Amino acid sequence: MFHQKKILLCVTGSIAAYKTPQLVRLLVKAGAEVQVLATEAALAFVTPLSLATVSKRPVYSQYFEAKTGAWHNHVELALWADLLLIAPASANTLGKMANGICDNLVLAAYFSAKCPVFFAPAMDLDMYQHPATKKNIATLQQYGNVLIPAEVGELASGLSGEGRMAEPEHIVAALAQFFQQKQPLKGINVMVSAGATHEAIDPVRFIGNHSSGKMGIEIALALANAGANVQLVAGITQLKPQHPNIVRTDVRSAAEMYEACTQIFPQCSVGVMCAAVADYAPTVAHDQKIKKNEPSLTIELTKTKDILKALGAQKTENQLLVGFALETENGIANAQKKLIEKNLDAIVLNTMQDAGAGFAHDTNKITILDKYTKPQIFELKTKAAVAQDILHKILTLLNK
Ligand code: PMT
Repeated sequence: MFHQKKILLCVTGSIAAYKTPQLVRLLVKAGAEVQVLATEAALAFVTPLSLATVSKRPVYSQYFEAKTGAWHNHVELALWADLLLIAPASANTLGKMANGICDNLVLAAYFSAKCPVFFAPAMDLDMYQHPATKKNIATLQQYGNVLIPAEVGELASGLSGEGRMAEPEHIVAALAQFFQQKQPLKGINVMVSAGATHEAIDPVRFIGNHSSGKMGIEIALALANAGANVQLVAGITQLKPQHPNIVRTDVRSAAEMYEACTQIFPQCSVGVMCAAVADYAPTVAHDQKIKKNEPSLTIELTKTKDILKALGAQKTENQLLVGFALETENGIANAQKKLIEKNLDAIVLNTMQDAGAGFAHDTNKITILDKYTKPQIFELKTKAAVAQDILHKILTLLNK
């Protein structure tokens, strides 16, 4: 649920801050990246060491680190986050948030946030019932911030009533529910191919290519995060994505990938073929290692089956098929040709002429072509961000 989700957790001054290491632990365990910001008052209740240990990131409390001169840019921190969570949110911080007072890093990040904001108040029962607190909470809700209500129980004062911060498990459940609602592909089966193929020459040698599997695996993760049940047909790659929605079938050669893809695709609504599949394979794979007795060696190659073309031919009206084109010249023209010839709904072009694009980089630069609109050209981005662009294209084509 939280895979690749970036959560900015803002801890403020309340005794409930002692529960935040547990909150961070639960979020991290569920797959989230958590960056903790804390007010000075919060750090009287919980140590930055505990929070840094469980989040595996330094905790920021000040704009500047006096010792190192490092600047913690509140705008960058806020824009980094998929979700900003203020927990515990003290009465003081709620008042400032509702009234535009910005006198610390937590509040500066809050006022800079463009992502959804959740807040979990924590205070004594009379403070929680005070009309000013109620008004501030109502104002924040009007701003679109989401309240995770305080719970009833024993309070630090010894009194009993409403005001305890929601238990970490309940906060995590509220966030999980939010992310779940944002799963437009929930229950939809998709197939993604990724990585290289190796075509055996003999037991020790093969014909391969430079695909790392990064691009295809980022696509699999983006689709899985959008709720899809992903069948990942993985060629050769060192990567091992962990996601509850991803089921993986490992293959080595183009022939094995053909078998897997043609079996899996009929059960899927969407197919994305990102693997770098060999176009030719040795006609004969020798059983024993070829000895280097001769001054030259000729290996006869036979064309492999075009998997994408086969899937395009078997595709039904209810299926969507997206291919890739890796080109070194005439990119648009060649991609357009593949789009038509392989009966695709869209094709993602990347060319080796663009620095930082294609094989093995953490970045890619793509152009998406389809039958209906003019080519969409994208900037150089991380492969994770490119996968989001491809996801959006798929959602548009599915009318989601
Ligand atoms: O894995 P990375 O290091 O992250 O690199 C990513 C990538 C460069 C491999 C990826 O972005 C990419 O371009 N993948 C497609 C590579 C390729 O084989 O392109 P192509 O233009 O030769 O093939 C066109 C399409 O036909 C592709 O969707 C390919 O999967 C498919 N194909 C090709 C040959 C074949 N026998 N069967 C196929 O299905």
